[in-house]
Amino acid sequence: MKTNDFKGWLAACQERVEKNLDRWLPAATIHPAHLHEAMRYAVLGGGKRIRPLLVYATGGALGVENTALDGPACAVELIHVYSLVHDDLPAMDDDDLRRGKPTCHKAFDEPTAILAGDALQTLAFYVLAHDPAIQANTTARLKMIETLALASGSRGMAGGQAIDLAAVGRTLTLGELEDMHIHKTGALIRASVALGALSKPEIGPDIFNRLDRYAKCIGLAFQIRDDILDIESDTATLGKTQGADIARDKPTYPALLGMAEAKQRARDLHQEALDCLGTLGERADPLRGIAGYIVERIS
Ligand code: IPE
Ligand code: IPE
Ligand code: MG
Ligand code: MG
Ligand code: MG
Repeated sequence: MKTNDFKGWLAACQERVEKNLDRWLPAATIHPAHLHEAMRYAVLGGGKRIRPLLVYATGGALGVENTALDGPACAVELIHVYSLVHDDLPAMDDDDLRRGKPTCHKAFDEPTAILAGDALQTLAFYVLAHDPAIQANTTARLKMIETLALASGSRGMAGGQAIDLAAVGRTLTLGELEDMHIHKTGALIRASVALGALSKPEIGPDIFNRLDRYAKCIGLAFQIRDDILDIESDTATLGKTQGADIARDKPTYPALLGMAEAKQRARDLHQEALDCLGTLGERADPLRGIAGYIVERIS
């Protein structure tokens, strides 16, 4: 797939995600309007939509139609946005800027941001349980719900956030740092690929495991790049406050290993991810494109 084709694919998917999220979110006029407004504010009109892109790219590599992937794609993005809303709260990272606009608790208030996060989380599971366009059989649909629940909870993203908070101001070993990254960021990225794969329940364990290995590599690379950008980028490009990790004494990859080694680790993981896709053919090109995008992105 040429770079321009990938860019076109990316833009088309992002537009599709926006439309579907808009459709699933309650209108801002529906009671309780303030909460619905906050949910829509947090979700719509921003973000790279990497996790939904992974659902489409994985499903597409296996020949699944986009309509069957819309629900899982929305579900994982709703969980991700909930995690961002809570991550920005004063009790956690205390950030004022997200996706180029004031964070949810700044634009609304803290209780509303907490509730918006809660409600986005449950909406994700409603979509997976309800969406009539999901074609996977009932067993696979249940497996999707189980996968997203595990990846979001204490053994996944929420657990990673707990590890992150407990690590502030401490020097972690490389193993501890990777464990934190694998949980707080890797788990949802891995779940995104798994949701795409579960949309084609008849694939064998070999392909599933290859895709899962790909997801593990890019999940870790994604957070390494996030840590690098916190140092090398600027607030306007990032849409979130540059330098926030150093200001809060967060353990990060570049802080532990140095910048050059952090970048090398991201490059190695990129190559390892591509190797996992070896036999999947041209239909997996968007997955290859996403792997490159993750390690080269500037925001
Ligand atoms: C930011 O995620 C939080 C992390 C897990 C590192 P993204 O970089 O995917 O944020 P958006 O969705 O594009 O805003
Ligand atoms: C956030 O990690 C991970 C989750 C939201 C689960 P960060 O705290 O590094 O994300 P940013 O940098 O605020 O986007
Ligand atoms: Mg954080
Ligand atoms: Mg943060
Ligand atoms: Mg960060």
